[in-house]
Formats: sequence, structure tokens, C-alpha cells
Amino acid sequence: MKRGKLYFAVATVCCLVILLSLGVVGAAKKIVVGFSQVGAESAWRTANTESIISEAKKRGIELKFSDAQQKQENQIKAIRSFIAQKVDVIGFSPVVETGWEPVLREAKRAKIPVILSDRAVDSKDTSLWVTFMGSDFVEEGRRAGKWLAEKMKGKANIVELQGTVGSAPAIDRKEGFEEIIKSYPNMKVIKSQSGDFTRSKGKEVMEAFLKAEGKNIDALFAHNDDMAIGAIQAIEEYGLKPGKDIIIVSIDAVRGAFEAMIEGKLNCTVECSPLLGPQFFDAVEAIMAKKPLPKRIVTKEGIFPQEVAKEVLPTRKY
Ligand code: AHR
Repeated sequence: MKRGKLYFAVATVCCLVILLSLGVVGAAKKIVVGFSQVGAESAWRTANTESIISEAKKRGIELKFSDAQQKQENQIKAIRSFIAQKVDVIGFSPVVETGWEPVLREAKRAKIPVILSDRAVDSKDTSLWVTFMGSDFVEEGRRAGKWLAEKMKGKANIVELQGTVGSAPAIDRKEGFEEIIKSYPNMKVIKSQSGDFTRSKGKEVMEAFLKAEGKNIDALFAHNDDMAIGAIQAIEEYGLKPGKDIIIVSIDAVRGAFEAMIEGKLNCTVECSPLLGPQFFDAVEAIMAKKPLPKRIVTKEGIFPQEVAKEVLPTRKY
């Protein structure tokens, strides 16, 4: 090779090495996503976290994951830290509906798109997020109400275990359930209190319901399966038969609910899918590719009465 050509080849290789090390050419830049999770309050939440983390890994996306332990201030701190780290996209599942505007405006000023995953925020300024994906919680409440009204033939004293105070699923499920129940004059909610979506709180509040109302209770509507499972324990300890003396309908359709149905202790679970990882990262990739997204993406879900539990359990993924 002539000396001139050799110099040229060496110079080209050197330039390439410099550009590669600067990240100017070569492998596409890794997408970086910050995700602020509510906590680990239920089996549903654990499955949701697993779905987000495993999907990021599968797609080679760098995920900065933060668990807020059910505290809004921790979520706000996490979102501020994602902004400071200049992530490409922020995702979060808001523990409660209100109080997000200041931090979401900070993300908007930093030009970082936000995806709401699973739960909505209450704000008129819809420009603060790109899309909201997750279940229709009002419809879940309606499904539970319709099933219970039919099962009880329009007559029941009901106790209600609500989810976390101020959270979208607690507000919406209550609304949907009441919308159905109000057309049955003999279906009454005699006690209603938050069990914070946890098994331990569900048990504790059910104990208080039983102490106050005892055998006057015909049915329980629990805003999630974990609280229903906690309540089942309280009912048994009280000396009644859950699923027989007290008819129980709850929401999520986690494996634990199917096991309780097979044992005859729970009567029906309404599905709320936590497997949002694929949908979430489809949205992230669409944002990065500057593709338009709908403002609302609704998850498709079903309802499972006790009679199908044995057949369906082996197919459940969470
Ligand atoms: O936001 C979804 C709800 O949050 C689930 O129903 C509940 O189990 C979880 O904690």
C-alpha cells in the first residue's frame, strides 16, 4: 500500500475510534426511562412492577425504578430526580389523584414527556402528560355491582372495603358500584371504610365491621383481592363462613383470589390487569420515534365467578 493511502486509512480508523467513544456514531443511544411506582401494597402491584422491569430488560431500555412506599412525597422526589437526570421519558402510577401539577409542570418545562400508568391524575391541564394507560376503574365497580345485585336478588346489607383514600381506583370503583346499587332499593351499603389496598388493613377494618354489625352483614365489596383475603380471615375468626354467610366480590383477579374461590371462600373477582409493561414501553418507543399516541389507552378485562375458578387458575399469569 502506498504511503499516502496508508496515512488515509490510519486517519479514518482514528476518527472512527474518536467518534465511537464520543457516542456520535455506532450503536443507537439507549433509551432511559424513569418510573415511579406506588409501592408494594398488593399482589397486583408486585405483578405490575415485575411486568415493567422485565419488559424494560427485554427491550434493552435503561430503567430507573423507584418505589414510593405509598407516599406521594416520595413520588414527587423521584420525579424531580428523574428530571435532574434528564431521562428520556417519565412514567408513574400516582398514589392519589391530586397534587401533581407543580412537579408535572417542571417535567414539561424540561421537555420530558410523561406517561400515566395504571392510575389517573385529577388536573384540567391534560398537556402535562402524553397518554394515560390502564383500566376503566368505574366500569370495574359497575361489574362488581351488577354481579352482586344478581347474586343477592336485589337485597343485601353490604359492607365496603375501599382502596387508598384519594386514589383513582378507590374513587372510581366506589362510583361505579354505587351507580348500579342505587337502582336496587333493598341493597344498602351499611358500612364503608378504607383498607388501603392491603391485606392487613382489610382484615383490621373487617373486624371492626363485624364487631359493629355482626350477622347483619350479607355481603362484602372489597376494592381489591388483597383486602378481601384479609377480610376472609377476619370472618373466619369471627366464626362465620366467608363465601356462604357473607358473599364476597372483589377486584383484580390475582391468583390468591382464584385459590380462595376454589376453597369456596370468595364468590367473584373482577379483572384488573397489572401486565402493563408491554403497553407502557410501546408508548415509550412511540414517543421516541415521534409517533402520535391516543390520550387514553384502556386495558381489556373480564370477570370471573367462583364456578370458573378451577378451570381458569392454571392460565392466570399473576
Ligand atoms: O391501581 C390498581 C390498584 O392498586 C389495584 O386494584 C390494587 O390491588 C392496587 O394496589
